Amino acid sequence: MTVGKVSDRVYCLSYDDKDLDLFESLWPLPLGVSYNSYIIFGDEKTILLDTVPQRFSERFIEDLKGLVDLKSIDFLVSHHLEHDHSGSILALLREAVNCKILCSSFAVNLHKAFFNLSENMVKSVNDGMSMDIGGDTLTFHLTPWLHWPDTMMSFLNLEGVLFSCDAFGSFGALNGKLFDNEVDLNIYLDEAKRYFSNIVVGYREHVIKAVEKLSSLGLNFKIIAPSHGPIYKFNPLLIVDKYVSWSKPEFEVKVVLIYGSMYGHTKMLAEAIGMGVESTGVRVASFDASRVNVSFILKEVLDAPVLVFGTPTYDANVFPTILNVLDFIEVKKLGVGRYASIFGCYGWGPSAYGILMGRLKSMGFNLVEPFLTVRGAPSSSDLDNAKKFGVKIGELALKFKK
Ligand SMILES: Cc1cc2nc3c(=O)[nH]c(=O)nc-3n(C[C@H](O)[C@H](O)[C@H](O)COP(=O)(O)O)c2cc1C
Ligand SMILES: [Fe+2]
Ligand SMILES: [Fe+2]
Repeated sequence: MTVGKVSDRVYCLSYDDKDLDLFESLWPLPLGVSYNSYIIFGDEKTILLDTVPQRFSERFIEDLKGLVDLKSIDFLVSHHLEHDHSGSILALLREAVNCKILCSSFAVNLHKAFFNLSENMVKSVNDGMSMDIGGDTLTFHLTPWLHWPDTMMSFLNLEGVLFSCDAFGSFGALNGKLFDNEVDLNIYLDEAKRYFSNIVVGYREHVIKAVEKLSSLGLNFKIIAPSHGPIYKFNPLLIVDKYVSWSKPEFEVKVVLIYGSMYGHTKMLAEAIGMGVESTGVRVASFDASRVNVSFILKEVLDAPVLVFGTPTYDANVFPTILNVLDFIEVKKLGVGRYASIFGCYGWGPSAYGILMGRLKSMGFNLVEPFLTVRGAPSSSDLDNAKKFGVKIGELALKFKK
């Protein structure tokens, strides 16, 4: 746990989670994750912003007591009900007896549904509503669908701190650090991209909407304080610009090659295709879908204009680990506006390829034909064809060069 001063009136209580295997039971955490809660000391009001997961409740309450008399907390601003932020609400309310919850009107019902809180405990705030806290004002900005319908941000006006909750967040524990200038930002921006492509990407148009809305208000952002990952104080707009570029998305000239292969035949084609793509000067990100978690594949898919899927025919269908990747790409709406092609090996019937084609079409991909399918083991002329196929795919990706 790290307690740090963010600005004159704001403190952060940040908890590293290095024990959780999968965030949301989906996303691996090789570098852990942090949960950041904030407290604002106004001259007249003391306000807590979001809590931490339930299994950190005991430590969180003890640490808060080191900063403040819990009875003096006036409000908990609950930006978003997901349990990584709301998990300690009940523990807090047991001792912070004067604390009321402020949240979006959508979140009021969620708080009642999940925590059985009574009407008088949870108050909704309107978009743009400001609260005088004594010496500064806190303004609430509704930013729905980042990444739930309930989400909002708040802005401490004089100190210029934007509490953005999940938006602008990243995976990666903070290891005793808090700020952008204290950490290796390359690591956290990489983890922010993975976080974005795993959690936020399905709602990317709402990121653009939220940033446009906040920009149009002419707010002077001095500090971006998300609920996961570093606080951006020295270059606050860096992470905002990154989120906008990932939301548009701004394509990189590259090809993502995703394949499954039981006995190495489809893999041989994948390698030859990869060589063909690289011969055009285009980078290939190649994934064996049976061995790489889809979280990392989505990070590369996020800004890839061209994808190639390789599958053997398996029980008259597409290889299951490829189906798994397709499910994720579909749920995260990452097909639309991209190109995709197909390759693979089969034994007695090429039924995988029609099925895969149908899936890709329904996900909004533009299909690049002809596909490359081989019966039995690829011959050297099949491998030559695979290289040529890769050259065509590489040339297509080159069209995305700015
Ligand atoms: C469990 C299993 C199921 C298979 N099902 C089919 C099938 O339904 N249709 C087909 O044409 N070949 C089928 N095959 C044959 C494979 O598609 C063929 O061996 C192919 O070369 C495997 O490519 P790989 O080495 O990249 O895994 C199956 C093979 C296995 C091991
Ligand atoms: Fe969330
Ligand atoms: Fe979160």
